[in-house]
Amino acid sequence: MKLNANYLNLKPSYLFSEIAHRLNAYCEAHPDNQLIRLGIGDVTLPLAPLVVEALREAASEQGKKESFHGYGPEQGYDFLRDAIRLYYEDRGVSLAMNEIFASDGAKSDTGNITDLFDKDNTILVPDPVYPVYVDTNLMDGRRVLYAAGTPENGFLPLPDENVTADIVYICSPNNPTGAVYTSEGLKAWVDYCVKHRSLLLFDAAYEAFVSDESLPRSIFEIEGARKCAIEFGSLSKTAGFTGTRCGYTIVPSELTFPVNGEEISVNSLWLRRQTTKFNGTSYIVQKGAAAAFSKEGMAECRKNIDYYRENANCIADTLKDHGIRFFGGINSPYIWFECPGGAESWEFFDIMLNRIEVVGTPGAGFGENGKNYFRLTSFNTHENTQEAMRRLAGLLSERS
Ligand code: MLT
Repeated sequence: MKLNANYLNLKPSYLFSEIAHRLNAYCEAHPDNQLIRLGIGDVTLPLAPLVVEALREAASEQGKKESFHGYGPEQGYDFLRDAIRLYYEDRGVSLAMNEIFASDGAKSDTGNITDLFDKDNTILVPDPVYPVYVDTNLMDGRRVLYAAGTPENGFLPLPDENVTADIVYICSPNNPTGAVYTSEGLKAWVDYCVKHRSLLLFDAAYEAFVSDESLPRSIFEIEGARKCAIEFGSLSKTAGFTGTRCGYTIVPSELTFPVNGEEISVNSLWLRRQTTKFNGTSYIVQKGAAAAFSKEGMAECRKNIDYYRENANCIADTLKDHGIRFFGGINSPYIWFECPGGAESWEFFDIMLNRIEVVGTPGAGFGENGKNYFRLTSFNTHENTQEAMRRLAGLLSERS
């Protein structure tokens, strides 16, 4: 028996597990703590009423012989895939039903998609980056290259013709920096991938937070993307499904890569993979997700997104007042700022925790270029966010 030794190349624990571990230790030592968590991007508002109604109805259908559902289609029920199709159509993106695959979340899909790739591919990710893209490739032993996100490029690196990669990951609005690519920026990546016959994996988990209508929310708004890209979507942040679990992946029918001189459809390989390893998201959850994608359901979900946006503004105002440079926030639930006084991010994490009991995420957890940055999320309540900012303002005034 041989274990997958590639696991030994990973950091000992996943970023958010490491933070949870440190917080548990803090809470044990300080049982009367008043911690405010602006760390992991986990939502706090309840599901939209229409979603809850759909979940209830579906649960009760499952309790009756005549409406009971067993195994569903591995690709997702038509009612959900059609709701997703219409959601895209509203923004001028046409998708065929068989290009949409419902799942239990974008994290699983971004990890599982690596099943389709040979080990001998070079991966290009931005730095800083959502650690799942890196870790899932290191687990398979692939080579990972980094495109530097810096304050100078607004944490939106563009392709470098001197760097050749087979698979490129882009997340926009970005986790962790909150930065959003313009159509021109995304077009540059699409052109690069088409030219080099590389695959573009586009994570659109935060698209619903884009308020500036001139910014793209799907890679398929960009000409040429159907020839080179796969898109991952999620209801976690769009509809508060972090604990309910539903996402989707779009694999266009034009997307092919050669194997032994023959063009092979990625869509058919993904279908083969999903039908073999996945039995679909539960009927009940898919009913809830379809309700979220309905016009009325989305209007309810948007109220929650607007609520979180107010938190983002509150965080941004506090940083502005203290002259701290930050990114994100306007079109994203994440705010990414320079640690005051040039502090290292884990050092600043400890200061925030021990001095003001506010939890954030150290930028170093997202890569080398994050080592002097810190991420806060807008997903807590107004009351907690305002209190956290009151405490942060106190800390920043003291340090200036
Ligand atoms: C984050 O905080 O980066 C996200 O919530 C993690 C995730 O979506 O898996």
